[in-house]
Amino acid sequence: MTIRENISLKKFNTFGIDASARYYAEVSSLEEIKETLSDSKLGMPRKMILGGGSNLLFTKDFDGLIIKNNLKGIEVVNEDDEHFYVRSAAGEVWHEFVMHCIENNYAGIENLSLIPGNVGASPMQNIGAYGVEIKDSFHELQAFHINDKALHVFTNNDCKFGYRESVFKRDLKDQFIITSVTFKLRKTPVLNTSYGAIEKELDAMGVTSPTIHSVSKAVCNIRSSKLPDPKVIGNAGSFFKNPVISAKKHNELKAKFPEMVSYTAAFSPDGKSGEEYKLAAGWLIEQCGWKGKTLGDAGVHKLQALVLVNYGNAKGSEIYDLSTKILESVKKKFGVDLEREVNIV
Ligand code: FAD
Ligand code: EPU
Repeated sequence: MTIRENISLKKFNTFGIDASARYYAEVSSLEEIKETLSDSKLGMPRKMILGGGSNLLFTKDFDGLIIKNNLKGIEVVNEDDEHFYVRSAAGEVWHEFVMHCIENNYAGIENLSLIPGNVGASPMQNIGAYGVEIKDSFHELQAFHINDKALHVFTNNDCKFGYRESVFKRDLKDQFIITSVTFKLRKTPVLNTSYGAIEKELDAMGVTSPTIHSVSKAVCNIRSSKLPDPKVIGNAGSFFKNPVISAKKHNELKAKFPEMVSYTAAFSPDGKSGEEYKLAAGWLIEQCGWKGKTLGDAGVHKLQALVLVNYGNAKGSEIYDLSTKILESVKKKFGVDLEREVNIV
């Protein structure tokens, strides 16, 4: 393990922002984490953990220590009649972990295929797609406390998961290094094909008896057709969360904008039937005229208004400023507050 100084972060974030880090270290074991944290020449710099860099926006250079988590290994740690308990080290690539589970017939995370990033970041915002979130099959995680230098175990309840939320994104932000995550995966699959275009895609694929393999393939096909590939255009997926509003506010807006896209309790974060509605932020942003717009190299994707993109050499601050303009116009037109999903650094 070596601590490097003043390195470019361009290849370490999917937005492709050319910020730099004062110190940078890659760690592959618990020992290396401890060694890095106790390096006396660092003094007391600010610390940040980096996974695949697919949910971050660097708006300036990072004047501290970035620890890139490269811990590897996947193992079945337990089983009962209905489940395998599968533990993955934090540095495994999420999609490769999903593929490993599918190959071994461990069911439950197939709808989460092709989400970029590493396993260690998956609890940070309780990653979700196509009607499934990791909280549905999360068992526990281990995390190293940066100050007390001990490993802690967090159960599902401890993580306080919500829609794109967890305790690690809020109260415990930047305090823990997640080192492994254990999932409770089914021996007999319970498929979830009701969301969005999955059934239509399975039909188009000629699938009559879906399996976790074909559902995963369908999700990959849909995602590839909708979302820009960060290897081609820099982005971090949805830049904003889909806002959740009261039924009263929803009904007022729906009367004014009958085509407004919204979802009832089934897709609301806490399942509060009838009390809250989730709106499609992509629709709100498109209605404000932002879809396909650019400000310099910062832009709003032409097929998905919820995704902000870097067409080349945009600065993080330029993408951030564009996001502020979008927030302001959505607030002005609809009276709805959007919240950034991407972690701003
Ligand atoms: P990073 O971006 O490296 O880090 C994200 C945050 O987690 C940072 O605050 C970082 O400090 C912290 N962190 C990372 N690893 C650790 C660790 N081991 N311990 C403690 N803190 C840590 N997300 C979804 O939920 N659903 C989607 O469908 C989805 N689609 C996407 C599509 C595209 C094209 C892209 C680019 C992104 C998408 N995302 C989606 C967002 C992103 O893939 C997820 O948030 C992912 O979990 C981020 O993982 P990462 O390893 O890249 O995290
Ligand atoms: N829409 C528009 N215009 C747009 C984009 C979307 O009108 O430019 C409307 C469409 O009517 C569409 C609806 O919005 O039917 C929803 O769009 P989509 O199905 O593409 O999903 P999303 O709400 O944009 C969410 C997640 C994604 C996740 C998909 C599938 C959030 C913030 N985003 O996107 O997660 O992959 O659903 O489940 O919840 C991410 O978090 O980074 C991410 C990509």
